[in-house]
Amino acid sequence: MESKIEKLNRLRRERNAVILAHYYQDPEVQDIADFKGDSLALAQAAEKVDADVIVFCGVHFMAETAKIVNPSKIVLLPDMEAGCSLADSAPADKFREWKAAHPDHFVVSYINCSTEVKAMSDLICTSSNAKKIIDSVPKDKKILFAPDKYLGRYLIKLTGRDMVLWDGSCQVHEFFSELELIKIMNGNPKAEVLAHPECPDNILNYADFVGSTSALIKHSKESPNTEFIILTEPGVIHEMQKLSPQKKFISVPGMDGCNCNNCPFMRLNTIDKIIAALENLEPQIIIEEELRLKALEPLEKMLEISKR
Ligand code: 13P
Ligand code: SF4
Repeated sequence: MESKIEKLNRLRRERNAVILAHYYQDPEVQDIADFKGDSLALAQAAEKVDADVIVFCGVHFMAETAKIVNPSKIVLLPDMEAGCSLADSAPADKFREWKAAHPDHFVVSYINCSTEVKAMSDLICTSSNAKKIIDSVPKDKKILFAPDKYLGRYLIKLTGRDMVLWDGSCQVHEFFSELELIKIMNGNPKAEVLAHPECPDNILNYADFVGSTSALIKHSKESPNTEFIILTEPGVIHEMQKLSPQKKFISVPGMDGCNCNNCPFMRLNTIDKIIAALENLEPQIIIEEELRLKALEPLEKMLEISKR
């Protein structure tokens, strides 16, 4: 009798599929992926895929990005309900009005947004290239930044650029408790604090190192420290622990005291749903071509600037 993993491996061979996974996926999903990465690395990997099928183990905007940059491939998202609170905080109609109210501004959108919002943007950024992207905007241009107000505030500090911010946030990163963080820091005084820039400023103020999921993972490996407090979705700890089995990683509870800062959207993808997606070639990401081409422009610019 074929095991689940054997079935998955047979199907991925038969379908000529590549499985891409974000670091916030369940560890068992991360372990069957052909490639893992942060949002930028996943977009770059998706662009290069020459297999017939991409199974995207992440959230909807990431799978859409894969389809935008590599449209001839079948892109499967194992659970179509895998959305993102940050992307949902910028509905296309409201974003259009906001942009129209600031006609002389250059629009930079965080990749955590819909294809429609990307299509209305001049440039896209991720947490790993955001400084480089903002620095690339001509100095005489005023900037609109959406949808993450916390990443926006962090970038204002980092780049010195004044930006008008959309009022959006990620429900996972907004939920960390400052009080619990202080308690954990007091109990683990030698631990280095690593944070994702989607965290609010009151949390980021405690961070020794701020970066994208990939940057946090890399830093945890290279740092001489042996204890770390992790202020992002705890899925990243799986890779951190694999790279440094002897080090200690501590996640921080949310405001309600529970240690449950898992992203509810990311965690919707399961091994069973990946198998079903490969069997049925559903659910697929479909994007209307005119819209795709509009969204591709700022994404291509981002990919180009990221190479510099
Ligand atoms: P990165 O992996 O690019 O740091 O993004 C984190 C995130 O919020 C994904 O939804
Ligand atoms: Fe969206 Fe936050 Fe989940 Fe990332 S962690 S997918 S930003 S809700």
